[in-house]
Amino acid sequence: MVTLARAAVLVAALAAAAAGADAEEPLKVGAVLEVSGPFASIARQIENGMRLYLMRNGETVSGRKVELIVKDATGAQPEIAKRLVQELITRDKVDFIVGFGLTPNALAAAPVVTEAKIPTIIMNAAASVIVSKSPYMARVSMTLPQVTMPIAQWAANNNIRRVYTLVADYGPGLDAEATFKKYFTAAGGQIIGEVRTPLKNPDFAPFVQRIKDAQPEAVFIFLPAGEQGIAFMKEYRQRGLADAGIRLIGTGDVVEDDILEAIGDAALGAITTHHYSAAHDSPRNREYVKAYTDAFKIRPNFMSVAGYDGMAVVYEVTRRLNGRIDAERAMEIIKGMRIDSPRGSIMIDPATRDVVQDVYVRRVEKRDGALYNIEFDRISNVKDPEH
Ligand code: PHB
Repeated sequence: MVTLARAAVLVAALAAAAAGADAEEPLKVGAVLEVSGPFASIARQIENGMRLYLMRNGETVSGRKVELIVKDATGAQPEIAKRLVQELITRDKVDFIVGFGLTPNALAAAPVVTEAKIPTIIMNAAASVIVSKSPYMARVSMTLPQVTMPIAQWAANNNIRRVYTLVADYGPGLDAEATFKKYFTAAGGQIIGEVRTPLKNPDFAPFVQRIKDAQPEAVFIFLPAGEQGIAFMKEYRQRGLADAGIRLIGTGDVVEDDILEAIGDAALGAITTHHYSAAHDSPRNREYVKAYTDAFKIRPNFMSVAGYDGMAVVYEVTRRLNGRIDAERAMEIIKGMRIDSPRGSIMIDPATRDVVQDVYVRRVEKRDGALYNIEFDRISNVKDPEH
């Protein structure tokens, strides 16, 4: 017969064992990022954002120590990305998959995470269609249609009538081109030329010359964040497009915070629409920018914020599930989740698992000698207009 005292001891021992088991079992978060190669700055910003979340919120959640496992997809390499996701699931036995700077890599992951039922947080990849490819995916970054529609409307409302478009020739670029055309022409604007530039090693010189010769009132740009924006803006300056009165409009990627200083004064006056600027004027963002800059010695861009918020989702799901990750329940928790992000409040649309957020109209200006995207108008609660 078990005495009451012995039973109590037994219960205590079992509880300790359970707690001990939890403490020993790390919460594994597998990140697929393009760490090396031409898109390395995207990976660096996302990873910094994730690590900053851990630094500011502790490395343990619901008794589980968070272990971040970063894998390098080395560029737009869907086959590699797919294999890395498979390895993270079968060998590392991760609880979550996160990351994806580039659309082709995120698309390659969709069937794998669906089959294995692993909650997956997209931290950048922004072609509209991605999240519809797996019920286990949610996105905290943006979609190209979401951030393009506002600039199309702004241009039309601000007496810009004739636009030439230039986009990177892959998923997000095609989304940007289609969305710009749709909303700009619906508002009375005219597309007088369009060009798609290769994702790999683009030489912008001939395209920029062609745009100058066509004499549009503005050129609309979508290029993936990082080096391409610097290369394009160099041609834009050298070939004298600004001097010819051709305005630069686009999504915020071409003048994002990580490259703005490298572009220099050629960026002054560019009008773009986007969901995040390091200059976003709120206490939460000022604290974020300071903590990030102190930790990593560079300025945070929109990708860092998605890495940070993506980890906030991982932590919240883990807390709500008391440390035991179940994919179906995780996705139910993510649907409708709100996060107080450095960019402002965001919500994961329960119907689409895509991010709903304010989008800002910004102009590149100098503040205290440094270039920033200064927000001057806001469109509230923008959903992806395509899905
Ligand atoms: C993408 O590949 O989806 C992508 C990459 C860089 C950006 C935006 C989208 O700035």
